[in-house]
Amino acid sequence: MSAKKTIISKSVDETIQAGKELGKQLQPGDVVRLDGDLGAGKTHFVKGVASYFGIQPEKVSSPTYTLIHEYSGTLPVYHFDCYRLEHEQEALEIGAEEYFYGEGVCLIEWPEKIEGLIPEDAIRVDILHQPEERRKIIIHHQNPEA
Ligand SMILES: Nc1ncnc2c1ncn2[C@@H]1O[C@H](COP(=O)(O)OP(=O)(O)OP(=O)(O)O)[C@@H](O)[C@H]1O
Ligand SMILES: [Mg+2]
Repeated sequence: MSAKKTIISKSVDETIQAGKELGKQLQPGDVVRLDGDLGAGKTHFVKGVASYFGIQPEKVSSPTYTLIHEYSGTLPVYHFDCYRLEHEQEALEIGAEEYFYGEGVCLIEWPEKIEGLIPEDAIRVDILHQPEERRKIIIHHQNPEA
């Protein structure tokens, strides 16, 4: 079973707020995949999730050349950016699966690059460009109660 929630964001701040709201619902070991084009707002959404866990949003940036950024908050938050990854194998080598099945919260930008490694029960967030500065954010929960 899954449930879908759609949010229209009208600004960067509203996207951050949407991330913060999702943060409230996350449990240790949850994996969130962020699907969206370049500049959709994935990193800003991560800033919101991180801020829910007490991490300063300024600490969150796109780890373009680092595959993983680790932030230490009330839970460990692991921020992956797979944009530059060419082979899933590279993610395996740095132990991605240990993060995905660990005790922190994982947030993954460009998850399609490591499709075969993403846990089946990952929460999916689609961020879509809309006219003006808007974004459509669709959160696919695995659990209808969420
Ligand atoms: N409603 C909005 N929500 C989020 N970002 C917005 C919004 N309106 C405009 N923007 C702009 O869109 C850009 C989003 O950048 P961000 O780095 O979060 O995207 P991204 O999806 O992580 O991109 P990348 O694929 O390059 O990592 C920023 O420049 C931001 O100012
Ligand atoms: Mg980004």
